[in-house]
Amino acid sequence: MAAFPKDFLWGAATAAYQVEGAHDEDGKGLSIWDVFSHLPGTTYQGTNGDVAVDHYHRMQEDVALMAEMGLQSYRFSISWPRLLPNGRGEVNEAGVKFYSDLIDALLAHNIVPMITLYHWDLPQALQDEGGWEVRSTAEAFEEYARLCYARFGSRVKLWATFNETIVFIGHGYITGSHPPSVKDPARAIQACHQVFIAHAMAVKAFREMNIDGQIGFVNVLQPHTPLTDSPEDTAASELADAIHTHWLYDPVLKGTYPAELVTQTQALWGVPRFAPGDDELLRKYRCDFIGLNYYRRETVTANPGETLTQSNHSGEKNSGGEFGFKGLFKFVRNPNGVYTDWDWEIWPQGLTDGIMTIKERYGDIPIYITENGLGAKDPIVDGEIVDQPRIDYLRMHIDALEKAIALGADVRGYYPWSFIDLLSWLNGYKKQYGFVYVDHQQNLARKRKKSFYWYKEAINSHGNVR
Ligand code: BG6
Repeated sequence: MAAFPKDFLWGAATAAYQVEGAHDEDGKGLSIWDVFSHLPGTTYQGTNGDVAVDHYHRMQEDVALMAEMGLQSYRFSISWPRLLPNGRGEVNEAGVKFYSDLIDALLAHNIVPMITLYHWDLPQALQDEGGWEVRSTAEAFEEYARLCYARFGSRVKLWATFNETIVFIGHGYITGSHPPSVKDPARAIQACHQVFIAHAMAVKAFREMNIDGQIGFVNVLQPHTPLTDSPEDTAASELADAIHTHWLYDPVLKGTYPAELVTQTQALWGVPRFAPGDDELLRKYRCDFIGLNYYRRETVTANPGETLTQSNHSGEKNSGGEFGFKGLFKFVRNPNGVYTDWDWEIWPQGLTDGIMTIKERYGDIPIYITENGLGAKDPIVDGEIVDQPRIDYLRMHIDALEKAIALGADVRGYYPWSFIDLLSWLNGYKKQYGFVYVDHQQNLARKRKKSFYWYKEAINSHGNVR
C-alpha cells in the first residue's frame, strides 16, 4: 500500500467559539452564538462558550501540548468579532495580538497554522443588519479577510474561508436550530448564495494581495447510501447528493450551481437571485484546495411524509429521530450499521469512497481532511482517560485515507477533530472529541488522554499505526 506522501501534514483542529471563551474580554464584540446561546432552550442544558475551555488565556499551555504531541499543523478559526467588534470598521488590536501570538507560538514549534476565517460566529452587529441575507455582509467579510491577510498573511500559508456552509445555513435558515433560527428554504438559498459570493470576494482579495499560500473552502463530506435498491430510494439518495453535496461543492470548485437543481429552485422560489457580476465572480475565483470534514454516512429513503428534524443531543443511544425533507428524502438508521452514542454511523469506507467521488466529479483538486473524529463520553479508569474507541475510530479512518491516496487522490493533510475537548454547539461539553481532556471540576485543567500518546506515535511513524 502507498505510504503517505513525504510532506503530508498530521494535524488537529478546533474552532474559536468552541475553545476560546473570553467572549466579552479585551474589546471583543458579541457574535450571534454569544447571543443565541443565552436564549432559553436553544442549546443542550443551556451550555455556552462564554468560558469554553479558556483557550484564550491558556493558549501557550495548549500550544506546548501540541508541540509535545508532535503536531505538524493546527487548524483553528478566527473570531471575526474579536478582530472587528462591529463586523467592519474599527479594529480591535488586542484581538489581532491574540492570533498573532498564537501564530508565532505555533511557528516557534514548527507547527503549520491553517486558518478558517468563518466557523459560524458572525458578529451580532452584522446579523442585526440582515446577516447572510444581505450583500453588505459579504462585503464586510471581504474587509475582514483583507485584514487577516494583511496582519497574518506573511506567516500563514493555508487558509479556508468558510466551514460547513450546509450546517450553518441549513440549521440557521431551515431547521432553525442555529442562529438566526429562521425556517424558510427560500431565505436559506439566498443566504447561501451570499456566502458563495463572500467566498469568491475573499479569494479575489487573496489573489490581489498576492498572498503566498493557498485558499480553500471546507465542506461536510457526507456519502449517501440508498436504504434499498428500489427506484424510489435510489432517486432519494441521488437527490440528497445533489442538495447536500453538489450544491455546496459546485459553486466553489466549478464556479457554477448544479444546473438542473438551480432551475428548479428558481422556478419554485425565485432563488438564488444573482446580482450583476455574480456569475463571473464565482467562475473566476475558485478554490486552491477543498477541505473535507468526514464523520459519517447517511442511509437514505424516499420521504412521502413530513419534514423531520429531530436529533440526538443527549448522547442516549437511539434517542434521535429521523431527519428529512417533506416529499424529498429522509435519513434513516442503517439496520446493519455501527453507531455512536449520538447515533452517528461509524463507516470508515465512506472516507475512501467520498474522497474518490469528489475526485471523480471535480478532478485533481488538492484535498485536506479538515475534520474527522469520534464524539464520545470518554471512560476514566483510575484517573486515566482511556479513550480506546477514539483510537479505534481514528486508526480505521487513517487506513481508509491511505486507501484513497493509493487510489490516486491528492490528499495533503489530516486534521482530527479535535485537538482538545471543547464545546459541541448543541450537545454541550459531554460530547468529547479531544486528545486532551479538560477537567471541568478542576479549574479546566488539561490532561493527556490515551489517544494523545497514540496520535503522537501515529505522527511519529507517519501514519504507520496498526
Ligand atoms: C462539525 C463542525 O460540524 O462537526 C464542528 O465543524 C463540530 O464545529 C463537529 O463540533 C462535531 O459536531 P458536533 O455536533 O458533534 O459537535
